Amino acid sequence: MGFPPLKNDLLLRAARGEKTERAPVWVMRQAGRYLPEFREVRKTHEFFDICRTPALATEITVQPIRRYTGLLDAAIIFSDILVIPQAMGMEVLMNPGPEFPDPLSTPADIAKLRDVVDVNKELGYVFEALTQTRIALAGEVPLIGFCGAPWTLFAYMVEGGGSKTFQKVKTWIFKYPEESKALLIRIADVCIDFLVGQVKAGAQLLQVFDSWAGELSPHDFDTFSRPSLEYIARGVRERLGADRVPMTLFAKGANYALASLAESSGYDTLGLDWLVDPLEARRLVNDKVALQGNMDPGVLYGGREAIEATVKRMCDGFTANGGCRAWIANLGHGITPGVDPEDLRWFFECVHKYSART
Ligand code: CP3
Repeated sequence: MGFPPLKNDLLLRAARGEKTERAPVWVMRQAGRYLPEFREVRKTHEFFDICRTPALATEITVQPIRRYTGLLDAAIIFSDILVIPQAMGMEVLMNPGPEFPDPLSTPADIAKLRDVVDVNKELGYVFEALTQTRIALAGEVPLIGFCGAPWTLFAYMVEGGGSKTFQKVKTWIFKYPEESKALLIRIADVCIDFLVGQVKAGAQLLQVFDSWAGELSPHDFDTFSRPSLEYIARGVRERLGADRVPMTLFAKGANYALASLAESSGYDTLGLDWLVDPLEARRLVNDKVALQGNMDPGVLYGGREAIEATVKRMCDGFTANGGCRAWIANLGHGITPGVDPEDLRWFFECVHKYSART
């Protein structure tokens, strides 16, 4: 398909491990509740209705690009990781957090899921939103597609929502490990179809969000998350062939696995939360992958001086050895609703200023 030519490829170059004039920057959840223009749309539309209406998803995806003209280096499609459980046949509500009225309580409940998931039928609205957004962006910045990691999605499908103790999903993996592993791979198959479809529809980089990786021990991460993550990287790569795009894995809380993920996971970039020091992360991944992150989103509440000092320290760390290369500046998790959008602008300006280092 003939999309407008890309004018800013900083993100793609950094993801490929190249040197850049400065660090590309975007933030997780950049299209969302901290933006008054998003809240305005939300007043009259339910969250998942916005996701399912390509014109609205496009409008919201482009909102931060418009507001922060010349400062952002990527757009991320407005959607949610929980569209995959929906595609598999589960009901998901958002009020205000995610809620599954009928979660998977025991392995017998797996029978309630769709046998075959046709992503074009169930998630075609995401593909349509990507195509419309790619056109609307007019090549200003690349467009990121995403999905949830099987472990994180499985946890939501079993817990029925967020959790503090993860009692239900821990019951599943430790009591029914074989059924759990089979379901994780079944989710991963849908992830592959979905990610491949996103690239065909216009996504130029893919990110997999394993937001709950940190709930597992290193051993259990290797047993219940890593296999499906690697299966996805391999599957997407094989299916796309020459059309492949860079892939990022954000396994929040799994810094214990950085070295081994860099070695063999198949992802080009690893996303970092703020619990690891930039220099230490660089040492652990040993130039095998690019890195993304990792300011504590809470610093955005600390005012301009705190933001500037933290960004400068972060830039110094990531560029210490070899200058600005193989690094995508971001927060260590999604931006939170109470942040002043002008303080986020300051974050972007500080990244532009302090990351330009050869
Ligand atoms: O990054 C972006 O701007 C793109 C859009 C995006 C959303 N969710 C929009 C959203 C992305 C990439 C996600 C991913 C997502 N969703 C994750 C992985 C990343 C992470 O933060 O760990 C997870 C765990 C979810 C599940 C989810 N969706 C939760 C827990 C919540 C409620 C709490 C919250 O922080 O808002 C959502 C809702 C959601 N997803 C909103 C937005 C803008 C707010 C919904 C609203 O309008 O009320």
